[in-house]
Amino acid sequence: MAPRRRGSHPLVQALIHLLAGAAGGVACVVSGQPFDTIKVKMQTFPTMYRGFFNCSLRTYQQEGLHGLYQGITPALLANVAENAVLFACYGFCQQLVRQLFGLSSVLELSELHSALAGSLSSVFSSMALCPTELVKCRMQALYEMKVTGQTPLSRHSSTWTVVKSIFHSEGLLGFFQGLTSTWLREVPGYFFFFGGYEVSRSFFLQADQSKEELGALPLTMSGGIGGACFWLSVYPIDSVKSRIQVLSMAGRQGGFLFSFLHILRTEGFMALYCGLMPTVIRALPSNGALFLSYEMTRKKLTSLVDRTT
Ligand SMILES: *[C@@H]1O[C@H](CO)[C@@H](O)[C@H](O)[C@H]1NC(C)=O
Repeated sequence: MAPRRRGSHPLVQALIHLLAGAAGGVACVVSGQPFDTIKVKMQTFPTMYRGFFNCSLRTYQQEGLHGLYQGITPALLANVAENAVLFACYGFCQQLVRQLFGLSSVLELSELHSALAGSLSSVFSSMALCPTELVKCRMQALYEMKVTGQTPLSRHSSTWTVVKSIFHSEGLLGFFQGLTSTWLREVPGYFFFFGGYEVSRSFFLQADQSKEELGALPLTMSGGIGGACFWLSVYPIDSVKSRIQVLSMAGRQGGFLFSFLHILRTEGFMALYCGLMPTVIRALPSNGALFLSYEMTRKKLTSLVDRTT
């Protein structure tokens, strides 16, 4: 976070982070949506597809380009909501961690401190993420749910149709299926995400340079590394979450532990790693784009606010 200047009230700062986080979320989705769709299909129907290329090609053959971009509306909503809340809370969580460890300024926070602040921040962003990601996952695997006879919905259902069907059959609480799994993924995941990002930024730092002065390339690479750390650390948890959120369409699902043990017993541990490689590879450019958009928007808005106050 930039040092406080005259006129930058904490709430203005939070608003700047919120808008910058939203910009980062859009960049992340636009650059990675087809990969995300393949990930969810492979996680929820691991025996249906042979691998990343098989799944991508067959999706294209069966559903067209549209199939690869299925769920982009809720994906945009999910990522904008998540990153806006995540980055808006990140500043406050950094302050909290600073006080907890008795430091006088956020500039003294180590990589470990930032990782903790990110992790804490994700407790809040998960609540914005869970319902939007539920709709996204269900739309992405609609084709597979249809061909296996597990949903009455048409496979061309709109976002609004899916939202209405959740509300009608499961009520408002239905949108929070998989919240425990979301927390179990996000809290450790964002520890490694911000930790990886900060360690990587420190690594790229030249003598006498501050992190604020890092150029676009090292910034993008650090963001990509943060994203890869996220997926490498929590992928199996994400697989359980995707299953719960997609299959709960066909009826009530057990909780995280039940689903996790059930998959272990019936399919083995490796089933939880289906789709890992394309996800990690995709994380490099899309999280690079996320952090680049975030930092650029934040710097622009900060200088705008400084000039007008
Ligand atoms: C995908 O794999 C299935 C069998 O597992 C095969 O029948 C099909 O031809 C493959 N499709 C493509 C596009 O590779």
